[in-house]
Amino acid sequence: MADDPSLSAGWEAAAHDWAKWARAPGNDSYWRFHREPFFSLLPRPGRLTIDIGCGEGRVARDLKALGHNVVAVDVSPTMVEYAKAADPSMKVLVADAARLPFDDSAADLAVAFMSLHDVEDMPGAIREAGRVDTSYLESHRYHDSIERAGLRMTFNSRHWPLEAYFRAL
Ligand SMILES: C[S@@+](CC[C@H](N)C(=O)[O-])C[C@H]1O[C@@H](n2cnc3c(N)ncnc32)[C@H](O)[C@@H]1O
Repeated sequence: MADDPSLSAGWEAAAHDWAKWARAPGNDSYWRFHREPFFSLLPRPGRLTIDIGCGEGRVARDLKALGHNVVAVDVSPTMVEYAKAADPSMKVLVADAARLPFDDSAADLAVAFMSLHDVEDMPGAIREAGRVDTSYLESHRYHDSIERAGLRMTFNSRHWPLEAYFRAL
């Protein structure tokens, strides 16, 4: 509809409701399904992890608790205020995902948890995530040593971006 607000204006208007919604224990899929599986997919903490579309900051706080050095960004000033109030030591910036205020390759991990479908310029946001996190786009060897339930394993592998698998297929 012509009088629909932009996605970012819609989120700014919904910020107070979102903070209550997102923080209610067990209320949404973050608490019920996605949280643990998502974090189990992430690489170990590196120099800098950027949380894109951080909202009131729950993902950023969980990343920090896992040892990540996090900078969180959101286009909504009210969301950013909520995230800062919840953890005043967290660096949280008002910024558009399609124009991230970071140098090329500044981060070794950029996450956008349940936010890309809320960003007006989705391709721009993906391009920016790739620009600030080039380690994803470059192939490199890695070793991952894991201990769990008394079992130990070192994985010797090579990272490939998803695009490389599709090209090969
Ligand atoms: C569904 S919330 C997800 C928040 C958080 N990732 C979470 O899972 O709790 C989507 C967020 O994307 C943000 N957003 C929308 N457009 C954006 C843009 N262009 N740049 C950065 N953030 C944006 C909204 O303000 C909102 O906080």
